Amino acid sequence: MMSEIANDSIINVGNYNVYVDFDCIEYLDAYLNEHYKNHEKLVIVDENTEKYCLPLIDQSSSSLSKAEIVQVESGEHNKSLEIASSIWETLISYKVSRDAILINLGGGVIGDLGGFVASTYKRGIPFINVPTTLLSQVDASVGGKVGINFGSHKNSIGVFREPQAVFISTQFLETLEKRHFLSGLVELCKHGLIKDRDLWENIRDQFTFKNLEEEQLIHWIRQSVEIKHQVVSQDFEDKAQRRLLNFGHTIGHAIESASLVADFRPLLHGEAVAIGIICESYLSYKNLGLDISSIEDMIAFFSKNFDYYPLINHYDFVLEMIHNDKKNVGIRNNFTLLKGIGDAEINVNCSEEDILESLEFYDRAFAH
Ligand SMILES: NC(=O)c1ccc[n+]([C@@H]2O[C@H](COP(=O)([O-])OP(=O)(O)OC[C@H]3O[C@@H](n4cnc5c(N)ncnc54)[C@H](O)[C@@H]3O)[C@@H](O)[C@H]2O)c1
Ligand SMILES: [Zn+2]
Repeated sequence: MMSEIANDSIINVGNYNVYVDFDCIEYLDAYLNEHYKNHEKLVIVDENTEKYCLPLIDQSSSSLSKAEIVQVESGEHNKSLEIASSIWETLISYKVSRDAILINLGGGVIGDLGGFVASTYKRGIPFINVPTTLLSQVDASVGGKVGINFGSHKNSIGVFREPQAVFISTQFLETLEKRHFLSGLVELCKHGLIKDRDLWENIRDQFTFKNLEEEQLIHWIRQSVEIKHQVVSQDFEDKAQRRLLNFGHTIGHAIESASLVADFRPLLHGEAVAIGIICESYLSYKNLGLDISSIEDMIAFFSKNFDYYPLINHYDFVLEMIHNDKKNVGIRNNFTLLKGIGDAEINVNCSEEDILESLEFYDRAFAH
């Protein structure tokens, strides 16, 4: 049955396949029937994916008709030891054996949390990811990082462990909030900016939230998965090359943290990274000679799709956080910057003066 899958829907990322199509539920069903027919199955959901995504699976997946559904509450703060522990308790109370398989149906929170629980329960049981947000489809679907937050330390407890397979259905995105969709789009853009000029230019020229063609989106997601795989496969344990993926993230993370502290409705990860991309493009111009017209393109694209978020009150916070990161981790050259579009360089050191200028640059470019 698996042979009926269209070839271009399957991306082999080393030890497993990522399937990308409008509807991959049939593939999931076929996969489970082929490999896990008589195995116990559990599906981890949050209240949103239980409401919007689970019914789509129930309709067409016979293999999951007897699966146990384990619901956790949505939200980054639930990617925690307490919730992991409550899932372990559930698995133990259901007497789940090492033979069982876990299916993570949700965004990056469910994928990271479910993957971590599966990797540690009874020294590890297999799991499958069915990512339901654009961010988790283009980013978390490849790379083998699973884990939880610990206190305020994001992703600080975890392991590298890969799923058996990943099934990406773009139909799930129809119920996703626009803000979350755009947040994921930023990671897609980033993959183009660091590795594939055509991908970035395509998104830049053709993306509209309202009239986005399904085929187009599927094509972008496939390209994005390939790029992430290409980068990760050179450096699975995140020691060097994988830092290419950090473009926009050094300043982006600091802005995300500033917003978490200051705002009632904080920026989403991708929203902060979009700002980080503009600031770090400025640093790329100053340090690596990135041409101004490329930065103007990015400003035009991001200002069309994202609201202006004034940084002025966060300058000190952002500078201090980047400074402390350098001190604590002992990384001096912590920026990934662009020499050109599709051509990134890791380990670039930037002065605090330049970093401040880059924040001011963003404010000037967007404030009108
Ligand atoms: N492991 C990795 O390599 C990796 C990579 C990137 C991000 N992440 C992690 O991913 C997390 C962020 O992921 P996210 O942005 O997917 O957030 P998320 O999982 O919190 O999902 C965002 C929101 O969308 C809801 N939702 C999910 N699918 C939906 C759907 N189809 N329709 C309607 N609502 C839906 C969720 O319930 C949630 O409220 C972070 O914890 C981050 O650390 C991990
Ligand atoms: Zn990111």
